Amino acid sequence: MKVTPWEVSGDVDYDKLIREFGVSKIDSSLLKRLEKHTGKTHFLLRRGIFFAHRDLKWILDEYERGNKFFLYTGRAPSGPVHIGHLMPWIFAKWLQDKFGVELWFQFPDEEKFLFKKDIEFGETQKWLGENMLDVIALGFDPKKTHFIIDTKDAGLMYREACKVAKKITFNMVKSSFGLDDSANIGQIFYTSMQAVPAFLPSVIKGKNIPCLIPHAIDQDPHFRLTRDILPKLGYYKPASIQCIFLPPLSGTEGKMSSSENSSIFTTDSPREVEAKIRKYAFSGGRDTLEEHRKKGGNPDVDVSFQYLRMFFEPDDKKLEQIEKDYRSGKLLTGELKEYLIKKINEFLKEHQKRREKAKTEINKFLFK
Ligand code: TRP
Repeated sequence: MKVTPWEVSGDVDYDKLIREFGVSKIDSSLLKRLEKHTGKTHFLLRRGIFFAHRDLKWILDEYERGNKFFLYTGRAPSGPVHIGHLMPWIFAKWLQDKFGVELWFQFPDEEKFLFKKDIEFGETQKWLGENMLDVIALGFDPKKTHFIIDTKDAGLMYREACKVAKKITFNMVKSSFGLDDSANIGQIFYTSMQAVPAFLPSVIKGKNIPCLIPHAIDQDPHFRLTRDILPKLGYYKPASIQCIFLPPLSGTEGKMSSSENSSIFTTDSPREVEAKIRKYAFSGGRDTLEEHRKKGGNPDVDVSFQYLRMFFEPDDKKLEQIEKDYRSGKLLTGELKEYLIKKINEFLKEHQKRREKAKTEINKFLFK
């Protein structure tokens, strides 16, 4: 397995990541504590999809003392948004609603320019516009949500990034990210830009505010470094809450990626969704109907079932029934796929409507 902010491949062992990255598992007592504030927890928490954290207990201690935190997450524009990208954002929206807190959303529109060979700024700007629509479509509160764009807000960010950069050596970057002497110097600097939103609201408001970052676990190396540096600058270490990856349609290894045609994009039509699921969704069913009826399927490796579990079936009772019926052989792969297609298309229909409407709302979200 390989998990870095720029590459995820192989069979990801999350327990091993917990040990290697040094994050903490979210256990039932922490879930109970969250429940005191949120009521019933989000299914992404209940089902262990947000599975790990750093300093979440401290965030709750502070909150309970009346010291509210802010949320920070982000997206480097370089292509279309797929359903895997939405998971941390949907979760951030839930946190925003439950705790009534601000969200700072970073669009590092230089990141992919620096890290990918064949992408120019013109293209990142096009995707920046498109990607913002997907974020807005999820229903964030414009009064409490601020988009910051690295190249546009550079006047504000650059000075803060330099303060971070001054505390990071080339050696630290090499060991944290696996970059070597052949890396371009923009790549070496980049992590200091991703650190900035974790304390920028504290800079702007002139007081220390706790920060909680919901993100997929591959971004952890950035924030491990950020946590080392910020206390040296007089700020809190940012806390984080981390999720697993949505697998690609083809199987349970790696993660869904923008560069695969088989990924489900937020702009896909119902027919495209149908064709992709029918053609690519890896099945945990048996080879023949008779065998499936007799021995049942395996939902643990069945990508359609996993998509329902991780995203499209919020109802625990329904999900349980589907799992039972699939294991027993009562439910067939084809039927499971049809159900998933229906669920995805219901979601996308609504999302696309809101996405259209978002075209007139971007201005409300841009940080001024
Ligand atoms: N590096 C992330 C990406 O590749 C973008 C990002 C910036 C981000 N800041 C973040 C992701 C904070 C999660 C949390 O898309």
